[in-house]
Amino acid sequence: MRKLVIYGGAFLLTVACAALVVVLLASTFLGQWARRDVELRSRLIFNSIHDSLNLALQSGAPGNVVGLFERVSQDDRMLAIGYCDASGSMRYLSKTMPKDFSCAEAERAQRQGPFTEDIDGRHIHVAVFPVTGAGGATGNLVLLHDLTYAQKRVARAETYLAIILGIIILVSGALATAVIVLSIGGWVRGLRQSIVNVQSGHDVERTMKTLGPLGEELRDVLRQMALSGNAIDGERVSWTTDTLRQVMTENLPGAEVLVVSNREPYIHNHAEDGVDLQIPASGLVSALEPVMRACGGTWIAHGSGDADRETVDKDDRLLVPPSDPSYTLRRVWLTDEEQDGYYYGLANEGLWPLCHIAFVQPNFRESDWQAYKTVNERFADAVAREAESDAPIVLIQDYHFGLLPRMVRERLPNATIITFWHIPWPNSETFGIFPWKEEIIDGLLGSSILGFHTQFHCNNFLETVDRFVESRIDREAASVTLRGEETFIRPYPISIEWPPAALARQAPVPDCRANVRRRLRLAPDVKLAVGIERFDYTKGIVDRMQAIDSFLANHPEWLGRFVFVQAAAPSRSKLPAYRHLQEEAERLTREVNAKYGTPDWQPIRLVVRHHGPDEVFELFRAADICLVSSLHDGMNLVAKEFIAARDDEEGVLILSNFAGAARELSEAIIGNPYDPHAMGEAIQRALDMPVAEQRERMRLMREQVSSRNVYRWAGRMLVNASQLRKRQHLLSLTESSEPGGYSI
Ligand code: F6P
Repeated sequence: MRKLVIYGGAFLLTVACAALVVVLLASTFLGQWARRDVELRSRLIFNSIHDSLNLALQSGAPGNVVGLFERVSQDDRMLAIGYCDASGSMRYLSKTMPKDFSCAEAERAQRQGPFTEDIDGRHIHVAVFPVTGAGGATGNLVLLHDLTYAQKRVARAETYLAIILGIIILVSGALATAVIVLSIGGWVRGLRQSIVNVQSGHDVERTMKTLGPLGEELRDVLRQMALSGNAIDGERVSWTTDTLRQVMTENLPGAEVLVVSNREPYIHNHAEDGVDLQIPASGLVSALEPVMRACGGTWIAHGSGDADRETVDKDDRLLVPPSDPSYTLRRVWLTDEEQDGYYYGLANEGLWPLCHIAFVQPNFRESDWQAYKTVNERFADAVAREAESDAPIVLIQDYHFGLLPRMVRERLPNATIITFWHIPWPNSETFGIFPWKEEIIDGLLGSSILGFHTQFHCNNFLETVDRFVESRIDREAASVTLRGEETFIRPYPISIEWPPAALARQAPVPDCRANVRRRLRLAPDVKLAVGIERFDYTKGIVDRMQAIDSFLANHPEWLGRFVFVQAAAPSRSKLPAYRHLQEEAERLTREVNAKYGTPDWQPIRLVVRHHGPDEVFELFRAADICLVSSLHDGMNLVAKEFIAARDDEEGVLILSNFAGAARELSEAIIGNPYDPHAMGEAIQRALDMPVAEQRERMRLMREQVSSRNVYRWAGRMLVNASQLRKRQHLLSLTESSEPGGYSI
């Protein structure tokens, strides 16, 4: 508003100056006009009396000349009239001739032409005309006019003009102010509200509309503010599919997105009645799939289904999701030997136990390493073939592709490569036992940005690089420069879509409860706890059963009134560690059930099969407790899905201290999964928790998961990618190749 006043003041000052110029011009013009009028009159008078004057002069009677002069000088604008003879003396003059006026001044007028002069306090116009008789020039006629009247007229005109202009200025100023206050006022309020909303991240788009057509550029700036504000702290924008699309169109216009992961989002398998479409139980898939639906692009993955080849086109592509095609799935084929070495061997018997530190010894076989390299090359070729531009954004997923970033960089030097490591990165001492550590680190440092779930894992990675690879580490920028190329190391906590698609298909919570309890044949007073995940030793399934054993032993009042359902999807069953885990879990289930169970009641129900998202959400909505007791987990999305499923704001989450999710979901009951007694007590606490407290905790966790959803996860990476591209573009303009000169 202060600026508005300043602009208004400047406007009025300009108009006043212009008015002053108008008044000055007008008065000059009026003065000139009066002078020219008098000059004309003087000549007319001279012409009209010339002959009479000659006759009077020739008569030699002074009275004739003076009489003529007195008559002429009666005119009210004429002041005086005189005659200077050839010798320069004033021979005849009217009575009104000023005493100080002499023929010398008449000569000046003869030389220069008519002039004006102040005489006796009057403004006098002096004009001189030669008088010629029969014998030639005899003298000069001097005519003096009083111009004071003209001066007064100009002064009066100036006053009127100034008054009129003053009134015009005041009226137009008042009108302009009224227009500004009425029209700009609303616009300014809209702008202010938009800025406030950008800062708080609420309803940004709707309020921007209030800026109207004038606000086109401002809207762009505000949108950028909203997005980059988010890039900085990630808290301000409400992330949705629309926000993500906006990031793409505004920050990365026309950019091509390629995703690479081992697991494909849609698997086709033969079934009894044709071909079955399966969505795998994978945190990676449930996080990336909604992102791809929002952004479009191509997802390159291993075609692992036995009917996969029958459902692709000649280029091994198909459009997905089948119900609403929005991106391309490009399948890459592997032989069984390659699959054994790369996936089961190096990735899941080597890197998986190594990074999770879950006390299963890793196996490192040279043949697995060779297969890992071959398959990474195969995917690098697929990326190069799928890329339609020389600078795509390539999002590489997980520990299956430790070498891929460098291989893609060699094929597409201008690509922006973002690699996300979905599992923990251990301390440098632990990683030190990996036989090909230098190669993997070198491979990962082909990325532009390397992401982990937590800052802790970023720190572990930097320590590992420091220990094993000669490079430059900039701890302030959190980057590593290897052979002149810089990689930024950043935490991006992964999450789920919000609201989850499966939730929309759910019945109200009481109906879900009733359905599930009926299916499980639970008595009305029985409390239900659930655990849902892949059958993996990192998830702490066996330890959870030991906790239930401890709980029932210490709290026998719950015998007959507590049931734990473990839904476990078979996973990597080809590997001995996974088979042993399943056997151990089944043995323990039998043991605990035999110890405490009755013919009507079994405390543990182990259901080993794949559960689709709808079944999973129904189970979550029916549960009183959800147990997530991973021994070590990068993030764990099951915990976040349970929270998303509970729109009734009830239910208790028991969460392992060693899951990345525990950094964000501090309102869960956090426990040590290695300590069965402590976990048993956590179950007791959860069962005793009043509904009001459950609601308070659940509300806070729902706020957390809804705002830090998967669109934010992907959006922050893409915003950082766009910052990187813009800065690299700037650097290329300034021809500076010095790394480390910027940050993201
Ligand atoms: O947790 C790591 C991870 O790759 C996840 O991203 C994914 O949910 C899970 O492992 C799936 O494993 P797989 O694809 O081997 O079944």
